[in-house]
Amino acid sequence: MSMIQKSSVNIDERTREKLIVLLNSRVGFFTELQVQTKLAHWNVRGPHFLAYHELFDSVTNHLLEAQDLMAERASTLGGYAGMTLPEVMQNTLLPPWPIEIRQDSKLIRVIGELLSKAADLIREDINRAASLGDADTADLFTEISRQLDKDLWFVEAHYLV
Ligand SMILES: [Fe+2]
Repeated sequence: MSMIQKSSVNIDERTREKLIVLLNSRVGFFTELQVQTKLAHWNVRGPHFLAYHELFDSVTNHLLEAQDLMAERASTLGGYAGMTLPEVMQNTLLPPWPIEIRQDSKLIRVIGELLSKAADLIREDINRAASLGDADTADLFTEISRQLDKDLWFVEAHYLV
């Protein structure tokens, strides 16, 4: 069933549908990501508590901004933007969150792996959007990719020496 709305955005409807599916799958994934980075923000313990507590919050805020860009692009293309929580859980791309890990030096690596996975997916999305002929969505993913890479640098600089 197509829930696509009429739009004068000059991209054919079948292509818009594919882009909307792609965007919404990432919107759902970023819901998962931001829950996990917030859990890290709230629960980190250890000598680097304050730096990591603040870093994980900054990462979460960037994820929220990126999610908003993707959802609003889906809506711009005539789609129903976003995923319900049951849909997010059905489509989970992440292993269960390790609640037993609170030590700063371990948790920062968990977040590094998380961001690395996200950065890989978004880089594929840039190419996918480009191959569908939508330079704007490719550009949007590129913007998100650049911020994710930067956040990955901020995280990995704590342990990749
Ligand atoms: Fe907070």
